[in-house]
Amino acid sequence: MQSTPRHASRRLLALALFLAAVTQVDAAETAGVVAAKNGLVVSATAVSSEIGRDVLKRGGNAVDAAVATAFALAVVHPEAGNIGGGGFMMVYPADGSPPECIEYRETAPAAATQTMFSAEDSSYGPKIVGVPGTVRGLALAHRRYGRLPWSELAAPAVKLAADGFTIDQYLADSLNSLLAESGDFPELLRVYGKAGGIQPWQAGDQLALPDLARTLERIAAQGADGFYQGPVAEKIVTQMRDGGGLITREDLADYRAHVRRPIHGTYRGYDIYGPPPPSSGGVCLIEMLNILENFDLDKYGRDSDDTWHLMVEAMRRAFRDRAVHLGDPDFVEIPEFLTEKEYARRLARGIDLRRATPSEELAADIPLVSEGTHTTHFSVIDGRGMAVSNTYTLEHSYGSRVVVRGAGFLLNDEMGDFNWVPGHTDREGRIGTAANLIAPGKRMLSSQTPVIVAREGQVRLITGSPGGRTIINTVLAVVLNVIEFEMDAQAAVDAPRFHHGWFPDQVTVERFGQAPSAGLLEGLKNRGHDVVLADSPQGSAHTILVRSAGDRTFLGAADYRRTGHASGY
Ligand code: DON
Repeated sequence: MQSTPRHASRRLLALALFLAAVTQVDAAETAGVVAAKNGLVVSATAVSSEIGRDVLKRGGNAVDAAVATAFALAVVHPEAGNIGGGGFMMVYPADGSPPECIEYRETAPAAATQTMFSAEDSSYGPKIVGVPGTVRGLALAHRRYGRLPWSELAAPAVKLAADGFTIDQYLADSLNSLLAESGDFPELLRVYGKAGGIQPWQAGDQLALPDLARTLERIAAQGADGFYQGPVAEKIVTQMRDGGGLITREDLADYRAHVRRPIHGTYRGYDIYGPPPPSSGGVCLIEMLNILENFDLDKYGRDSDDTWHLMVEAMRRAFRDRAVHLGDPDFVEIPEFLTEKEYARRLARGIDLRRATPSEELAADIPLVSEGTHTTHFSVIDGRGMAVSNTYTLEHSYGSRVVVRGAGFLLNDEMGDFNWVPGHTDREGRIGTAANLIAPGKRMLSSQTPVIVAREGQVRLITGSPGGRTIINTVLAVVLNVIEFEMDAQAAVDAPRFHHGWFPDQVTVERFGQAPSAGLLEGLKNRGHDVVLADSPQGSAHTILVRSAGDRTFLGAADYRRTGHASGY
């Protein structure tokens, strides 16, 4: 994306590859990139992207499309699409007003206590459910920016749930493995099972969700109050009371989504906007980019052990600061210096190009105890240049596994994102620092990192990902691939990814597509890194790139590590 001579030959090559892949600009759909001029949605499924695109075609803006896409995903992508979870929506308005973050993270119920969980507690069941934020968040975004009526945006999801939709291979596999281990959750088996969970799903089967259709219909007619008050709220509360959960009628009625100022940083002249705490994503991403700006990564090349080493060292330092400082900003003070260039220069000076810094060396002020990933991201841009980058989640795949009886939707298990055991920080990656301990009404720390990159006021890149703590490093990779290494949209998404999270002190390298060379991995090991090949791919970064400031063609790259689809016009 930069216009420097050192990039010229690579740009020509990228252009040639791009022209080979995309033959026409008007909604050209190829194996990889979808190019469009008027509007584009990239999300986890074809149906949710098409619903968003149709909203854009009808004159809705990017926020309208995002709301419709989010409701549709709650039906057709139940592992992470949701109304029972929470997330972060970055909005870049087209009229020159500043970008905003609509923050709709879940909260701890009023009855929650710092020590309500032990390390052995289950990730499933009513006790681990945070007060859901999604419906309030979507309503707040719509109230501030929406153009089309709210009920019209929820209507396609109501219809999908009521009439049923076709299950594809991905969803069949995902539901079958969920149902096989969900004997303790009868409502989940009743709602999502084929013949009550006895038969396995196959691609081509139809799934109708009549209870969810009624819930969505109520939300469509009454707005967010249709979820947080009245019969739906009563059903949530009854479910909690019967199963040992803590959420009360007051918790639901008191829930508020917030408009927050994004974290802003710069990298080689680009403006980067990410979500602020209670997400750690924006702070950690900017801290890492600020550190890396002190090195000439482009000289080393994307797939060199020098570049990977420097990225790992930046990750290690940012994740250490995440553990020490980050939590809900309404409860803890977040230091300003974390995203300042001078602080990053100091951290960069501490990096040895030839040797990994043991994570323990950075843990001096944190006592270490001896030992004894589903979310979904989508990106939207409309013809006027308004952009939305939205990540939302139930935490694990299918959240707490609790389907609200008679209301048809899954509840999150987001309480698992708090630090469960005060003071227990260990080399396995458990964190027990004070900033993210449980307190009534507090928001748990997130890693969700929906990001928008702009240059001279024009949006150039929209990205984000699922993947728990790895999210931040997935987004770092995509941003660097585009800005530093000038890769085209699909190549930036497809390139191999890796993760380091301070503890455990290891570099996890994904298994997906083209593996990094043996020489690169050797180079890391020789510096003292513990390199582990992961069994699964890292993240799913549904991305939009705007080709250049002059040519406002939108390029949508779905990430095929899980499932995804770009739809534009
Ligand atoms: O908010 C967070 O950081 C986590 N609850 C996200 C979980 C996640 O990405 C799992 N997906 N694979």
